[in-house]
Amino acid sequence: MSNQDLINKTILFVKEKLENAEGGHDWFHIQRVYKNALLIASGETCNETIVKLGALLHDIADSKFHDGDETVGPKIARKFLESENVSEDIITHVIQIIDNISFKGGNNKKTFSSIELDIVQDADRLDAIGAIGIARAFNYGGFKNRAMHNPQISPNLSMTKEEYKNSQAPTINHFYEKLLLLKDKMNTQTGKEIAQKRHEYMQGFLSQFYAEWDGEL
Ligand code: ADP
Ligand code: NI
Repeated sequence: MSNQDLINKTILFVKEKLENAEGGHDWFHIQRVYKNALLIASGETCNETIVKLGALLHDIADSKFHDGDETVGPKIARKFLESENVSEDIITHVIQIIDNISFKGGNNKKTFSSIELDIVQDADRLDAIGAIGIARAFNYGGFKNRAMHNPQISPNLSMTKEEYKNSQAPTINHFYEKLLLLKDKMNTQTGKEIAQKRHEYMQGFLSQFYAEWDGEL
């Protein structure tokens, strides 16, 4: 089977799996991450097949929607890749990407590194910032029944992952706890450049948001 056939089959598999996914993690998120990853990959020396498979499979089963079980996604991905007779070294690498991609606050212990992981991680982070990032944050906040903003509740940068997940903090706090920190975590040059623009867009959004909140403009 050609690489393109494998990618096409993976696209169909992921689309079907994510049919009922919540808005921030649906097929369109994967499609944006896939496009971002290809753009970043064009400026790097890397294995494009691994980048594509990693981008397509990175959220195949988000632990947030499987009682925090982080082994579900890698298992589904491995089973699919094995059924397509993908070589073991590629499968292992793609699984490492899925295992290591997630932003885990300050205690993200990376146990694996590769340019392909760097690329897919940047591509995923780009989709959490800028206009799409803003939309995803409020979509997720709505899904979790969180307030948009409450001036009496300040951002808290020292929550554990578990506390963070269960917190009822307003969505605006998420910008300070996560989204505005992402631009300094980018791995690749292309990723950094795009992140800078999206970061400025979010800063503009926040200024406007507070102005309107206070009845100005
Ligand atoms: P990813 O799948 O990109 O690694 P997450 O699963 O952590 O990221 O989050 C998915 C989307 O939901 C992101 O756009 C993120 O900003 C948003 N999100 C996650 N946690 C919160 C939160 N506490 N408040 C608002 N949005 C959130
Ligand atoms: Ni993602």
